Order: sequence, then C-alpha cells, then structure tokens
Amino acid sequence: MRKKIVAGNWKMNTSCPEGVELAKAVVAKSTEVPANVGLIIAPPFTHLCCVSEITEGSKVELSAQNCADHTSGAFTGEVAAPMLTSVGCQWTILGHSERRQYYGETDEKLVVKTKLALEAGLGVILCVGENLDEREAGKHFEVCENQIKNVLYNFTAEDMKKIVVAYEPVWAIGTGKTATAEQAEEIHAHIRKVLADKFGAQVADDTTILYGGSCKPSNAKELFAQPDIDGGLIGGAALKADDFIQIALSF
Ligand code: 13P
Repeated sequence: MRKKIVAGNWKMNTSCPEGVELAKAVVAKSTEVPANVGLIIAPPFTHLCCVSEITEGSKVELSAQNCADHTSGAFTGEVAAPMLTSVGCQWTILGHSERRQYYGETDEKLVVKTKLALEAGLGVILCVGENLDEREAGKHFEVCENQIKNVLYNFTAEDMKKIVVAYEPVWAIGTGKTATAEQAEEIHAHIRKVLADKFGAQVADDTTILYGGSCKPSNAKELFAQPDIDGGLIGGAALKADDFIQIALSF
C-alpha cells in the first residue's frame, strides 16, 4: 500500500527565524494528521540545520529543495547530498520546474543527482511536468513520460522504494490555476503506467505520486480523491501552517 504524503516546498521564502517559527507551528499541528499521511517540509538550505532540531522526534520529515551533482570538492555555492544527511535531512526535491527553467537542470544531471542522493541515504521527490506551450500542443503525456523515462529508467525497483514522483504542470505553479482533478488524474495514471512498463505493476502501485500546482485547502480534497493522486507538493500554501495542515487533512 503506497504512502500518502503532503510535502511543503518553501522555495526561496522566509528568513531563518521565520522558518523556525513556521516549522514549530507545523510540528505542533502535525499531531492532528493521521498516521497514514506523511508530512515533509523543504525549507531553504540555510534553515535545515536549525529546522532539523525542531522536526526531530516528530512526524514531520525534512527535505532539501535540491542537491549537487558531486559529493564534495571545488564546486563553489553547491550543497552535496551527504551534507544534507549530516544535518538531519531525509529527503531532497529534485528536478523542480524552477530548477529546470532557471538553472539549466537537465534530465542527464538529474540522473546523477538522484544517484548521489540515494547513495547518501536520502529519499528523492522527483518533479516532472509540462509547460503551457506543451500542454496547448497536446504534448503533456509525452513530456511527462519522457522526463520519467530519461531519469527513472536508470534506476532499479529497489531504488524506487525511496523515490516519490511529483507531477507539477508548470502552468499551474504559483498561478492560482490548478489542474482540474481530471487533468491531474489522467497524467498521474499515465505516469503510473510508464513506471509499470519498466518496473512492473507492483512497484508502480507502491509508488507515491504527488500533485503540485496551486494546491490549497479549497481544492485538495477533490484532487486527493482521485485514485492515482497520493498527496501534494505544496508551494504557497505551505508557508501557512494552518493551510498546510488543512491540506494534509484532506484525504
Ligand atoms: P504553488 O503551490 O505555489 O503553486 O507551488 C507549487 C510548487 O511548485 C511546489 O513545488
């Protein structure tokens, strides 16, 4: 039985003291969330060390938003996967569309990053999703399928136990425009089929696939009611503890 997860991607928001307060509020309210729903927060790198002291011993798990494609050395400004585990991180997001769009993240790089993250003991939340032009051209299934194949087909069924997929249509991120539950469901079902083709039905069935893109308390219930939507990767609404927990109570 795959796990339901609600993950908060804070992106480049909050000062460290603000982040600590937000984490405290999320941890305090996390006791309301049922045991079968996992909670993850992904603050900026600078906050991880302080925030891990708050999440430790709670049901809230800690994620980074990215990691380097090397393990150490002369790579100024980068943060390696083993550094993340050294401050108590259990996860990293990889391949977010903002990284793909603004920082030249390619599928090839994501193979390396995913490998290093898994080697360091991190779970990976791998993001895929089409942009508006691709959707309007009817290429959304193909784009997501290729992103999944290019990255995850390099891994094993065993690796898949530590990998969560997040479908985030770029046109729905931060725009207030949510994909309809049907639009999201058909891509989620397709992603699960693409995983089944490589890893078999059982692995595909056990893989958590999250939806991200203007997910909020008012639409989470309808999205999470879909058979292949196992939770959400939340941006804006994760910056308010009440909204974030409300979303986690929407299954
Ligand atoms: P919003 O929820 O702000 O649309 O962001 C979604 C997202 O990109 C999460 O990674």
